[in-house]
Amino acid sequence: MSSITLATLRKMKRDGEKIACLTAYDASFARLVEAAGTEVVLVGDSLGMVVQGRESTVPVTLDEMVYHSAMVRRGCSRPLLVVDMPFLSYSRDPALALESAARLMKEGGAQVVKLEGGAAVLDSVQRLSELGVPVCAHLGLLPQSVHKLGGYRVQGREEASAAAILHDAQRLAEAGADLLVLECVPSGLAAEVTAAVEIPVIGIGAGPACDGQVLVLYDMLGITPGHRPKFSRDFLAGADSVADALDSFVRAVKSGEFPAASESFE
Ligand code: KIV
Repeated sequence: MSSITLATLRKMKRDGEKIACLTAYDASFARLVEAAGTEVVLVGDSLGMVVQGRESTVPVTLDEMVYHSAMVRRGCSRPLLVVDMPFLSYSRDPALALESAARLMKEGGAQVVKLEGGAAVLDSVQRLSELGVPVCAHLGLLPQSVHKLGGYRVQGREEASAAAILHDAQRLAEAGADLLVLECVPSGLAAEVTAAVEIPVIGIGAGPACDGQVLVLYDMLGITPGHRPKFSRDFLAGADSVADALDSFVRAVKSGEFPAASESFE
């Protein structure tokens, strides 16, 4: 099977075929995630929490992202490899964003770099895009800003914040973003954003209308300790194996069965 490219994902959006994405942090899981048929693998800085046991993604470093990205790249070749840029490694100025992206792509094998935020990162997105670096934007709940937000909460419930998210999505796409992750926003807002931009929108806690779905691997395997987010599902419960659980996730995304209304926000 041929490798997934941004063109593949754009065509899937146009054709209404759902995109399946999971996080991975090492070669062994990357192999399993690829075998399940996901189009996108995300080396998320969620690794700070689910792998390193930290309280948030804030302390994750660029060296750590490069290290995990290189492992994931060795484990899979078909899915598009999207890698998170860590907190403050891209937003201070576009030159820093370029240096960080260069390391993730050259040493980590990233094909797309992901960064969080709206207006504050437009310059970086534009510069990266002009120089041929594919970019995935991230709006809604921004985990790297957890200390500013005061917790992990649904975003865009009020009219003004919903309008700001929609406006930011359009500006990020105009600035050259190739993909958008939309996290923890009401389903109706996610549907509006998905219809308003030509770039594929991958949701997490953003309802069923997005062009694709992503989950944190350890959440959907039920191995993250503590409370599981409402928008996640334990696909290992009732499955015969990890491979079986990953297959069920991909099937549920493709058929539109995941996420259900009870796993989405109004
Ligand atoms: O870091 C991560 O895993 C992410 C997902 C939650 C989308 O950004």
